[in-house]
Amino acid sequence: MTNENTLKSSGEKVFLTKGITRTYQMGEVQVHALRGIDLELYAGEFSVILGLSGSGKSTLLNILGGLDIPTTGQVFYKELELSHATEEQLTNYRRHHVGFVFQFYNLIPSLTALENISVVTEIADDPMKPEYALELVGLTDRMNHFPAQLSGGQQQRVAIARAIAKNPAVLLCDEPTGALDIETGVTVLETLNRVNQELGTTISVITHNASISDMAHRVIYLNDGQISSIKQNDIRKTPHELSW
Ligand SMILES: Nc1ncnc2c1ncn2[C@@H]1O[C@H](COP(=O)(O)OP(=O)(O)OP(=O)(O)O)[C@@H](O)[C@H]1O
Ligand SMILES: [Mg+2]
Repeated sequence: MTNENTLKSSGEKVFLTKGITRTYQMGEVQVHALRGIDLELYAGEFSVILGLSGSGKSTLLNILGGLDIPTTGQVFYKELELSHATEEQLTNYRRHHVGFVFQFYNLIPSLTALENISVVTEIADDPMKPEYALELVGLTDRMNHFPAQLSGGQQQRVAIARAIAKNPAVLLCDEPTGALDIETGVTVLETLNRVNQELGTTISVITHNASISDMAHRVIYLNDGQISSIKQNDIRKTPHELSW
């Protein structure tokens, strides 16, 4: 791979977590989903968080995205401490700074692709034009299609367009290719790569699919609620080069 695929890191920390834990109380039983996570994610970075089912990936992503708060420890988005933020600060953070992409696309069935994106751009501070978001994900010609008239991969690309249309600094993706076949998954990963490279968006993708890790700048391995190791990829693969 060429150098342009390696991270031109400013070194700016976008996220910093210090010893975060998340414990769920299930009746008499405590489930320790996260057991002390110290992590830094950097501006412009494409990271993959890899771990088995139940290792705590979604719990960690939800905390980074301000959808949940840790039981103990601290998490910062730049200067904002999410672990001690008010509801209003968290809502503001989610609305303006972070985009989410989930395994299931959650598009509104009665709205076209373009309208699904407009719903978000209408309440954003500094959105891109919905048409441009669709162009970035290569779906200009599907603008007026309803979700039911799109393939799974196309629906996921609309969901990505919707997430990036508000120009978030960060895009958090929870198993974005989990419901897709390999070829369609590659297209979706290429779309994420393009967003990272062209918009400079900091992207974190969580997955239990180890092959995806070869396209990341850095891979964070999660095991039973802890980081077991972190690997830097000096040479990144393109989504097409991944071996599935
Ligand atoms: N709302 C909840 N209440 C109770 N326990 C939970 C809750 N959410 C997650 N857990 C538990 O926390 C642990 C971590 O869950 P998490 O969803 O973060 O795992 P994951 O790595 O995302 O798994 P998967 O790959 O299957 O999505 C699991 O043992 C899970 O059962
Ligand atoms: Mg999960």
